[in-house]
Amino acid sequence: MPRYLVTSALPYANGPAHLGHLAGAYLPADIYVRFLRMCGEDVLYISGSDEHGVPITIKAEQLGMTPREVVDKYHEVIKRDFEAFGISFDNFSRTERPEHYGFAREAFLDLLKKNHITEKSMKQFRCDECGRFLPDRYVRGTCPQCGSSNARGDQCDDCGAWLDALELVDPVCSICGSTPVPMETTHWFLRLDCFQEWLEEWLSGHPEWKNNVLNYCRGWMDKGLRERAITRDLDWGIPVPVEGAEGKVLYVWFEALLGYISGTIEYFEKKGDPDGWKKYWKDPETRLVQFIGKDNIVFHAVIQPAILHGLGGYVQPWNIPANEYLNIKGEKFSTSRGTAIWLKDYLAHFPPDPMRYALAINAPENRDTDFSWDEFRARNNELADVFGNFINRTMKFAHHTFGGEVPSPGPAGDEERRLMEAIAATRDEMEKLMRGFNLKAACLKAMDLAREGNRYFDRNRPWETAKNNERACATTIYYSLQFVDALRILFAPFVPFSSAKIGDMLGKHELLWKKAGLENLEPGHALGRPEILLDKLKKGFEKVMYEAPETGKDSGDAGKVSYDSFMKMEMRVGRIVEVHDVKGADKLYRLLVDMGGRTRQVVAGMKPYYTPEELQGRKVVVLVNLQPARIRGVESNGMILASDGGSDRVRLLQPAEDAAPGDRIR
Ligand code: 2FM
Ligand code: ZN
Repeated sequence: MPRYLVTSALPYANGPAHLGHLAGAYLPADIYVRFLRMCGEDVLYISGSDEHGVPITIKAEQLGMTPREVVDKYHEVIKRDFEAFGISFDNFSRTERPEHYGFAREAFLDLLKKNHITEKSMKQFRCDECGRFLPDRYVRGTCPQCGSSNARGDQCDDCGAWLDALELVDPVCSICGSTPVPMETTHWFLRLDCFQEWLEEWLSGHPEWKNNVLNYCRGWMDKGLRERAITRDLDWGIPVPVEGAEGKVLYVWFEALLGYISGTIEYFEKKGDPDGWKKYWKDPETRLVQFIGKDNIVFHAVIQPAILHGLGGYVQPWNIPANEYLNIKGEKFSTSRGTAIWLKDYLAHFPPDPMRYALAINAPENRDTDFSWDEFRARNNELADVFGNFINRTMKFAHHTFGGEVPSPGPAGDEERRLMEAIAATRDEMEKLMRGFNLKAACLKAMDLAREGNRYFDRNRPWETAKNNERACATTIYYSLQFVDALRILFAPFVPFSSAKIGDMLGKHELLWKKAGLENLEPGHALGRPEILLDKLKKGFEKVMYEAPETGKDSGDAGKVSYDSFMKMEMRVGRIVEVHDVKGADKLYRLLVDMGGRTRQVVAGMKPYYTPEELQGRKVVVLVNLQPARIRGVESNGMILASDGGSDRVRLLQPAEDAAPGDRIR
């Protein structure tokens, strides 16, 4: 029996996790892992925070915090948000643990001893102004490959080229803006060149990998591998464990890759089985599957195998199903550019399953895909309408007609046999797709199956047979319930929270893949209470996320409003001077409000609560710097505040007698 070790790239602990993270390396891994567990496979799922390197030091400088404070904070935030999304790591470790330091140091020394690492003097940019050597990321300039003026010394985000800082055109120090000069310094290099032949041979043994991964690797091999520096001049990270290396640390990529191993060791140590990790990392029966985003391919498919081969005795990746990017309006989600949708902002308003489903169906498996709230809403509603609805109607029926028990069916007819065969066929097709990492196609199949359920229910009209043919009705509901159980199982990897809720409704929680399509519920089995599984969403539903003033910023402090944010809201006293109807709208008035000299137009949903006469001349509180909006084609500039005690108790806020139009409220 093979055993599976599944990993997701270690996210940098320099900000909260966003949807791009989730879609790229965490959700697919979680779906795969949940599926394997349901197949009864031996599987371990490891990830953790990547806590070193320039991404952390830059963030620390921006926030005026120490790097240590930054990683302590974001490690917790990331871990919490992934958990809330149901990402079922067996261990989510971190690279700041002393045990990781020790493991990385030993690996470095071992490779050094074996001459896979050499020490060399090299030229590197030094900034006189700052009095320090500059790590690649601290140099900016023009990309020699595509001409973008936005390139960093390690990489150009616009064309994806991996760069050497010395190649940048017009380099500047990103700390102080002055021009750095190349100077001699010592670094340690991984002799990738020594591994070229072995790597080519090894890669040729994996023709089944995804094309994006193979093409990337081929590109690297064709250029010829060169030695690469694996140390940096930085005061944050794991010190290079040799004498005379003061001020130098291990390159974050070198040690983060080892984090997969140290994270596994930690897992087994916590279990009191300190040698347990070796089975997963050293026994060739292990299938190491690594989920990553495409920008990580070279590290996982070239550098990591070289390191593991150099150390000797370790398993190599069995597959690296790298994903492309999830974009938003054509651009990559970016923590630094503030174009991200944070998991915590989403979770503050919506349940995890619809997003899991939407991202599974719209996964960037083979090309970049664009995220949009409209598409998300369509997927949410599909999940509610097709999957949720079938479950709901079946459960309700079983309760009011059969007293909350699985009814005794009559003999199965052709319809029923076909239904059960359809489940078994879908289950087997899905298994094949899942094992081949086609998670999106598998998810589509599950939804197609849910449609079958609704069709079966509609064709057999239990609401009619309930009146004139109870036996037939019992048969329909019995098989519909078996079908609900099958959906509970087959959807579990994608929407685990809903699956568990269905489990409560059915009084059945066992999750075995091979049991989907069997008659798992005996006649007479007591069912739990029916519940609505999912809510549908209306157009514009996502606005609530953006109304929270902190949304989009990585405050890491969900739900709290800072004083500054509050003070950004400009609220003033106004007096209503004109009240008009809005054509075709039975709830709206168009109001002209005197704001102390200037009049502004506001559309307000006050018609059910106030007559025009009651409003005329009344003083109100107006939020004046709300973004203008067109409501039913009428421009609205601001919002009139009211207390909302439910549909029959909406009351305008009333400024005091002597407050005057234009007075600021705070
Ligand atoms: O790209 C990133 O976010 C890296 N922190 C991924 C590291 S994966 C591995 F090395 F651990
Ligand atoms: Zn400088």
